[in-house]
Amino acid sequence: MKQSEFKKRRKQLMQQIGIGNIAIIGSAATRTRNRDVDYPFRQDSDFYYLTGFNEPDSLAVFIPGRKQGEYILFCREFDEKKALWEGAHAGLDGATTHYKADDSFPIDDLDDILPGMLEDKAKVYYPMGRDSDLDHSLLTWINHIRSQSRTGVNAPGELVSLEHILHEMRLFKSPEELKLMRRAADVSANAHVKAMQKCKAGVYEYQIEAEIIYHFIQDGLRAVAYPSIVAGGKNACVLHYTENADKLKNGDLLLIDAGAECDHYAADITRTFPVSGRFSEPQKLLYQLVLDAQTAAIAQIKPGLPWNLAHDASVEVLTKGLVALGLLKGKVTKLIKDEKYKQFYMHRIGHWLGMDVHDVGDYKVDKEWRLLEPGMVLTIEPGLYIPVDCLTVDKQWRGIGIRIEDDVLVTDQGYEILSAGVPKTIEDIESLMQAS
Ligand code: GLY
Ligand code: MN
Ligand code: MN
Repeated sequence: MKQSEFKKRRKQLMQQIGIGNIAIIGSAATRTRNRDVDYPFRQDSDFYYLTGFNEPDSLAVFIPGRKQGEYILFCREFDEKKALWEGAHAGLDGATTHYKADDSFPIDDLDDILPGMLEDKAKVYYPMGRDSDLDHSLLTWINHIRSQSRTGVNAPGELVSLEHILHEMRLFKSPEELKLMRRAADVSANAHVKAMQKCKAGVYEYQIEAEIIYHFIQDGLRAVAYPSIVAGGKNACVLHYTENADKLKNGDLLLIDAGAECDHYAADITRTFPVSGRFSEPQKLLYQLVLDAQTAAIAQIKPGLPWNLAHDASVEVLTKGLVALGLLKGKVTKLIKDEKYKQFYMHRIGHWLGMDVHDVGDYKVDKEWRLLEPGMVLTIEPGLYIPVDCLTVDKQWRGIGIRIEDDVLVTDQGYEILSAGVPKTIEDIESLMQAS
């Protein structure tokens, strides 16, 4: 991502905050895994969105109209020994020269410097309640200013959530962001294709996971957007199954939900296909039903249409289909009203997608479902999960779990499927698997 993109975002944020106010946002912290080993570091999405700065122990401050510079970055000072053991870090000079902060200070001096920046500001925008250390520090700094009120300085009177402004910005993806999302989707789609080709009875779920991750990394994307779900047979009915430990069997379906992250932007793709390369009749019927639900839902993606139409379309198709196949009994309208489909379709149609796999952004505005607008990206992922012990349905359906998930961009005219590179019709899946 170009530095100019981050600059544009900061400018937009600054305009919304307004002169006389201040915004503060901290980086993610490193987390210990065991003794002196850390978990892989993942920057806080909001912090990265505004700074492009990928180091822990940092904090960004935005003060619209400040004469000495509006964007201040607190970070670690350059340390030669640290550079030798842990690698490059920007230091105070890098923060200004490379990351374009107007001013930079050592993070160790935060408590000395920040209270001065808060003086005489009316509102403090910050991610409230997300980092208890920052919550606590902020109150300490504000109390410190209050204790000096007789010198004529005023403490801020209002703490405001920064997320509301920032998450509204993040909901609309720029062409630069879409480039990264397209790459994440392309690499992930290719890995799904490779996994389909590798799949056969006797292979373990973790070996398919390895195949997927191998292709993510081979294509240059070292981070997964979320832990991969590789679920054979009835494991697919566990929505967040991540053990990935079982052996694949002929006659079972395999559900894979996996996505790579490209420079902090996620893909989120699910495909379900037969281990043997051929669907059985009951699998075919349920699979086609989920695919029809997905097609109906995607048809509702268009600027100006409310977000929930896609969900409602999937509910209608699935409920009708479940009645036709005998898994639900009764009148379709009543079954929908009573939410009877929820025993087999218990999640919603999807979610916003972006830097976070379940991305930020409100789904309702003034209590009404939000209208879709160009630049939004969302997943469309209907599913059916028939519990193995569901005695109300015929045996042939039990233990089948199917989800089909694509990443969909709202365009001026309608939509574009970013994850179209993985086959999903019965015919296309079978011919791909037969050819391998
Ligand atoms: N992979 C998480 C989800 O589909 O929402
Ligand atoms: Mn999803
Ligand atoms: Mn998913």
